[in-house]
Amino acid sequence: MKKNSDKDRKKAESLLARMSLDEKIRQMAGHGGLHSALPFTYTLAPYPTPDNKRLKISGLIFTDGPRGINLGKSTCFPVAIARGATWDPELETRVGHAMGLEARSRGANALGAVCVNVVRHPSWGRSQETFGADPCHIGVMGAALTTGLAQNVMPVIKHFACNSIENSRFKVNVQVDERTLREIYLPHFKKCIDAGAACVMTAYNRVNGNFCGQNNHLINHILKGEWAFDGFVMSDFLLGCRNTAMSLNAGLDMEMPQRFFYSKVAIKRSMAEGKISLDTINKAVARILLQKVRFGLTGEGEVKTGRGPKIHPALALEAARKSMVLLKNQDRALPLERGKIKSIAVIGKLAGLANMGAIGSTQVNPPYSVSPLEGLKNKAMGIEIRHCPWKGGRFKKALDLAHRADAAIVFAGLTRYDEGEYFPFICGGDRKSLELPRNQEDLILSVAKVAKKVIVVLQGGGAIACGAWIDHVDGLIMAWYPGMEGGNAIAEVLLGDVNPSGKLPLSFPVSTDQLPEFDCKARQATYDYWHDYRYFDHMGVQPLFPFGFGLSYTRFTYSDLRIEQDRIGPEVKIAVSFDVTNTGKQAGEETAQIYVGFKNSSIDPRSHKELKGFGKCLLQPGETKTLNVEIQGKDLGYYCEADRSWKVEQMVYSVYVGASARDIHLTGSFRII
Ligand code: BGC
Repeated sequence: MKKNSDKDRKKAESLLARMSLDEKIRQMAGHGGLHSALPFTYTLAPYPTPDNKRLKISGLIFTDGPRGINLGKSTCFPVAIARGATWDPELETRVGHAMGLEARSRGANALGAVCVNVVRHPSWGRSQETFGADPCHIGVMGAALTTGLAQNVMPVIKHFACNSIENSRFKVNVQVDERTLREIYLPHFKKCIDAGAACVMTAYNRVNGNFCGQNNHLINHILKGEWAFDGFVMSDFLLGCRNTAMSLNAGLDMEMPQRFFYSKVAIKRSMAEGKISLDTINKAVARILLQKVRFGLTGEGEVKTGRGPKIHPALALEAARKSMVLLKNQDRALPLERGKIKSIAVIGKLAGLANMGAIGSTQVNPPYSVSPLEGLKNKAMGIEIRHCPWKGGRFKKALDLAHRADAAIVFAGLTRYDEGEYFPFICGGDRKSLELPRNQEDLILSVAKVAKKVIVVLQGGGAIACGAWIDHVDGLIMAWYPGMEGGNAIAEVLLGDVNPSGKLPLSFPVSTDQLPEFDCKARQATYDYWHDYRYFDHMGVQPLFPFGFGLSYTRFTYSDLRIEQDRIGPEVKIAVSFDVTNTGKQAGEETAQIYVGFKNSSIDPRSHKELKGFGKCLLQPGETKTLNVEIQGKDLGYYCEADRSWKVEQMVYSVYVGASARDIHLTGSFRII
């Protein structure tokens, strides 16, 4: 979908000029959205704002995201963090395009699928909804999804900002200094804005004392002011808006999903009291109308339904295949080759479950789903598959089965009851520990004692600490919540039909206590400069699996780093090129990461290194390809609080090219003068 043109602006202005105050106010809030209060009713219907029949303006019809759309029987894609593990923005744009088509064909015109909050700590219960822990990576993936969605629906980007604690999301005050806010928690939102976001949803929490839905600094100053965002700003649902005048004056244009504070009575009262001006109302409505014009919701030319397939199983399968991360493969334990392996013991109740992630706003009800057990049976072709759905209690049956088979696969991990959007006493919430439940760890260790070969397949929406048992297993795959085709993708990777290429979009610690404490009940939380690989680098600590890590059934080498600058000064563009060669025996895809190091910096704090770009290539055995990645000088800057501006230091910067944050193959440098 095109961005706004002057013609669109004129049309929006003319509609605004023809509206009465009552009509304007009706544009500014939802109606009939109370079913968002419970997880089981969430997906029953979309969340509308009223039509204006007189002026032929359609209301918004909002539905949610991010692993597919909430309505009807729709494609359940792998969760966003799994898609983050693909490091594949081109694929993500296709996923966005498909989600937009499905949303349109079910009557919706706005989709809250682009969650780009940073996983500041992996205990965050909603980690599965975002792409990972790094602002550069999240920004690229979020922008790709936004681009795809915008071809059919209004992309809604959320939750602005610093929303990374779930259980206390309605009350926690995030204390964050301006530099950390600008460098760690906001840049990816800006990338989504530049990619064509129509709407930004604010977060529930406070930032530096003010609720995000009434945070003048975040909305008016940064988003609408500095970034010149010309879309509109919507509240998160029910408790996202708490005060008519404070929210409106801070720049919140729309209350969702119900009109409590943006009702006719409340707004007119605030106007009569002199707390809000007509100009503020006009500006808010103008923004909403501009996006409605852009997306064909005004008058003739209105697009109510998109054309295209109703579901996208092939795309869901492709995304699931590419999201699988091979974390350990001792002595080439994987793949389980059909000629060599005659029987597999499949252990754990998660094997028999199509485990698709949290419920509530992210729930998708697909037309069908494939569990890992079904996937293995579908693809076994002669291998005997026997399942023990161990659900707790004694392990005897599972161990007998494991002992007799050529290989045992233990399916372990989390479900919607362990993490996700928090509905007290029902499901979801933050995680208290990053380890697997104790009985699952014991099961893995017991199976490892008796099996000839033991492979663990993990499911979950974030990092799982495997330090207690990793040395005892031969193979480990992180499968996330892999969507409705997940079972097939898992089987294909296990059996070697697909060569795994996913890489972690966040670090996996050895154990929970390797990280700072996470208080899910916090009323106050300080977000400092350090998290994920920046934290591990800063503390000199080795995670179990670093950010960006993922193995393949083949091997890659890196060579011939070239670094070129097109000019002198901070506006410089740095072209980084290098070669990647597949030195193994089968085709495979590699994601190479480019980090920039700041060891010469005089600014404190400054990261040891930061991801500044990445590239992906598919290589046949023996093949070499050149990857080219461009780094913009402005992306090397730090935010100077004293001058309230971005500055690029004049110094020598290091370049690290590698297969993960801790597996650097090539180093170089460039100077900015
Ligand atoms: C969630 C948002 C979601 C909204 C509407 C809220 O509870 O925090 O992520 O977009 O509901 O579904």
